[in-house]
Amino acid sequence: ERRQLGANGAKAVNDSASVQQQYKVGFVPTMGYLHEGHASLMQKAREMSDTVVLSIFVNPIQFGPNEDLDSYPRDEARDLEVARREGVDIVFLPTVAEMYPQPTRTKIHVSALTERLCGASRPGHFDGVTTVVAKLFNMVNPDLAFFGMKDAQQVAVLQQMVTDLNMNVTIVPCPIVREADGLALSSRNVYLSAEQREQALVLSRSLRKVREVSEDVVRNTFTIRQIHQMVESTIASSPLADIDYIEILTFPGLEPILPEQRLSDVEEDIIVALAVKFGNTRLIDNIRLQKA
Ligand code: PAJ
Repeated sequence: ERRQLGANGAKAVNDSASVQQQYKVGFVPTMGYLHEGHASLMQKAREMSDTVVLSIFVNPIQFGPNEDLDSYPRDEARDLEVARREGVDIVFLPTVAEMYPQPTRTKIHVSALTERLCGASRPGHFDGVTTVVAKLFNMVNPDLAFFGMKDAQQVAVLQQMVTDLNMNVTIVPCPIVREADGLALSSRNVYLSAEQREQALVLSRSLRKVREVSEDVVRNTFTIRQIHQMVESTIASSPLADIDYIEILTFPGLEPILPEQRLSDVEEDIIVALAVKFGNTRLIDNIRLQKA
């Protein structure tokens, strides 16, 4: 058969192989209650892929026993509208029974990167995330998968998983989408009272100050300790804010940086990451300072 192909036949075979390589399935995993942050991932996926798959699944195994699994906001009809508007081709809405038929005995654990930040305050959370994302990847088989930098640690952990396990998918990190006043969009923002919502602006305000300092030729000689204090005092100016953590780490390695080190002397990208509770609502935000 090979002899019959000749030069043109061989070329045709090569062409179809390269067409297959170019055809991209883009995947946006979510837990629903979609907002403009999620929509930005769908838009990026639409730009970079031929087929866009969205999943909506509130994953029980990434919630702790005292977390908001039962009250996690849901609105499937509205979510489907958003998906249609953003040109999503396929929406995958598995049930808990479909995702976790009994008994499941396999979990994925990424070490080190999951021990700080949200991993420290939410034990087992990232095992739940990596396990469900690996399962979703196997079900959807995407070429590209889109994740928001809102959850910067999630991006770092998933990139590590994909590299360590030779998964055939490229993680595409996407920028944080904010309200006009700076609050990072989150499905959990609906829990905030008007007063909490107003005071929650201290998160983005403190991170804007960090950005200003890092871009200022004089003040970028501040030490990590000074940056930390500046963020802490900004957040403490809001009486309703209950700080879970303020951490300044390298990205994506999530290694601590010595407090006496000057911002301008750090060789790697830095992330300043916050988790702050307002009542029962825990908000996260971060800023990444990229080395030029
Ligand atoms: P969820 O919180 O629904 O978020 C889905 C995706 O949207 C994540 O990649 C998240 O980082 C991104 N996202 C949320 N708010 C954003 C914002 N303001 N700007 C940009 N992107 C934003 O993250 C999860 O679901 C789950 O852990 C999941 C990965 C689906 C696994 O269950």
